[in-house]
Amino acid sequence: MDGVSAEIEPGSTVALIGSSGSGKSTLLHVIGAIETATSGTVTVNDIEITKLRPRALPSYRRGIGFVFQRYHLLPALTALDNVLAPLLPYRVAFDRVTRARELLAEVGLAGRENALPAQLSGGQQQRVAVARALIGEPDLLLADEPTGNLDSANGTQILDLLLRLRDERAMTILMATHDQQIADRCDRIIRLADGKIIR
Ligand SMILES: Nc1ncnc2c1ncn2[C@@H]1O[C@H](COP(=O)(O)OP(=O)(O)OP(=O)(O)O)[C@@H](O)[C@H]1O
Ligand SMILES: [Mg+2]
Repeated sequence: MDGVSAEIEPGSTVALIGSSGSGKSTLLHVIGAIETATSGTVTVNDIEITKLRPRALPSYRRGIGFVFQRYHLLPALTALDNVLAPLLPYRVAFDRVTRARELLAEVGLAGRENALPAQLSGGQQQRVAVARALIGEPDLLLADEPTGNLDSANGTQILDLLLRLRDERAMTILMATHDQQIADRCDRIIRLADGKIIR
């Protein structure tokens, strides 16, 4: 990243577009505190996360959901247990298993709760990854090509789900995508080229 400066309104949906290698994943990783910026600041909900000590990161990450570009499901866990995994260290005020089943149904995977990742197609694994990112009811969803491996009907279904959840509970969404149709349904598009915002 080089000289990137942007402000994102809470509750908005922002598409991050740019060719391969332009820095979309890197920007999402830095905002998600998965990679550390060598300079500059990232402030989320008035917290300057680039200054947080490592021991403060779990509490920051509790409020965000992350869909990784390559899904990163845990291969030994079922779809249901993958969705539940982010909540393991935390207490929550809702019934986590019921919520995980609902989310799997919402991404079109009812009946596949007990499947292992290797028994699912790429698109199905991606949908498990979307459900996993949503289980913690995040304020901020960082999604790296969440519809990249889906046909347009399935991609639209995932986007509809994300936009509905955003409307229901004011979730902010920052989403890398190559799909102009997906980007056009977002409130705003940020274009990256060679690590810079071009408009
Ligand atoms: N861990 C790393 N160490 C060094 N360079 C990296 C690392 N990860 C990515 N890069 C480089 O940073 C640049 C941006 O990569 P990034 O993965 O963020 O691009 P991207 O826009 O997500 O691309 P794609 O659309 O292919 O996913 C690339 O030049 C890449 O080679
Ligand atoms: Mg990427």
